[in-house]
Amino acid sequence: MKISVIGTGYVGLTTGVCFAEIGHTVLCVDNDKAKIALLKKNKVPIYEPGLEVILKKNVQNKRLSFSTDIKEAVKKSEVIFISVGTPPREDGSADLSYIENVASEIAKNMDGYKLIVDKSTVPVETGEKVELTIKRNLKKNIPFDVASNPEFLREGSAVYDTFNPDRVVIGVSSKKAEDILREIYKPLKTKILVTDIKSAEIIKHASNSFLATKISFINAVANICERCGADVEKVAEGMGLDKRIGSAFLNAGLGFGGFCFPKDLEAFLWISEKLGYQFDLLKNVREINEYQKHIFVKKIEDALWVIKGKTIGILGLAFKPNTDDMRFAPSIDIIKTLQNEGAKIKAFDPKATEKAKEVLKNVAYCKNPYQVAKDADCLAILTEWDEVKNIDLKKIKKLLKHPIIIDGRNIFNPKEMAKLGFVYKSMGR
Ligand code: UGA
Repeated sequence: MKISVIGTGYVGLTTGVCFAEIGHTVLCVDNDKAKIALLKKNKVPIYEPGLEVILKKNVQNKRLSFSTDIKEAVKKSEVIFISVGTPPREDGSADLSYIENVASEIAKNMDGYKLIVDKSTVPVETGEKVELTIKRNLKKNIPFDVASNPEFLREGSAVYDTFNPDRVVIGVSSKKAEDILREIYKPLKTKILVTDIKSAEIIKHASNSFLATKISFINAVANICERCGADVEKVAEGMGLDKRIGSAFLNAGLGFGGFCFPKDLEAFLWISEKLGYQFDLLKNVREINEYQKHIFVKKIEDALWVIKGKTIGILGLAFKPNTDDMRFAPSIDIIKTLQNEGAKIKAFDPKATEKAKEVLKNVAYCKNPYQVAKDADCLAILTEWDEVKNIDLKKIKKLLKHPIIIDGRNIFNPKEMAKLGFVYKSMGR
């Protein structure tokens, strides 16, 4: 199939590259000229394992190309995926101006039937608005369909997730649109759930909000465990063995960050309120998540007593491992709070250092965990990178001024840490 994907962020670029890999001819479009110039040189502007290799391969076999021109995309393809950003506005609602722009540009350039598929995360009823925008901007009466096809890939495993989805959700209002989308996803041999457009839109917001709820739930349980001397890791294991609960997303710690959960939670809350329903549960989910960072800083304060003038070594800055993404990373609030209290910060992250430099100033960025540990008063673990999990603890202990580690991701065993002579504090145990 001839497909265009408008927007080359994490979702759009991965989708485009993977569609090419499963046999489609794909044109990826973005209005960011510098980004397209980079992609044309076979360079991926984000860190995403495996993406660059299949990008190169598909450019070489001529199934994948890049452009800044929406007109070209509309002319060359029957199916156009919209995958532009829907960033949060001040009030928590999603900014849908990029979607509106792209929809009207598509309409102005249409010369025959097109299927316009929304892949961006959007509030329910966006499909209707896209349809209206296209109708308003069409020069003549040309048939078209609008569909919703939410994306569930995770950053850091985007390629794997795209090829191995638990399900593909397609929200359609015509048989023709359903048949085209089924054909596109056929090579993946996965479960395809067909719904109406509004239900597909809600599936995305509800899924992310539910996963965020699971994380906040286990973090609340962690706080109870800590107060009574239970171990949240064991509690999560015991809960997770129940198939109805499942073990995924029960890792207690610093809470969720990234550009998806915080933003989608807000947007779901906003649209619920707009539709006349107070989804208070989600407000609690958000509060618990914020509180985790506060608890973590408190643990550092308890261990060091006075923060002013102390050197705190940070291991991990990205919002989670295997990504260079710093958006809504808990590290930002935690480091800024410690700096406000007068701490000197040294930090290491395997991939996010460059992006961290844009948001975190006055930090001594180090090349490895040992440079961070040297003469630091304590270490704080914020992201569970393998490079952090595999540190030589004996070497670290010698380098630290005091053998104190505060672990926001529960990566070490408290008993073993005590045996090694560390003052080791983690979350919920
Ligand atoms: C999330 C969803 O998992 C994807 O399905 C969805 O497509 C994506 O949002 C999106 O809407 O685009 P992502 O934000 O890449 O993906 O990252 P996750 O792996 O889901 O992690 C989100 C946050 O939750 C991270 O900060 C992580 O540290 C935290 N988390 C995750 C926990 O604190 N505990 C857990 O048990 C699991």
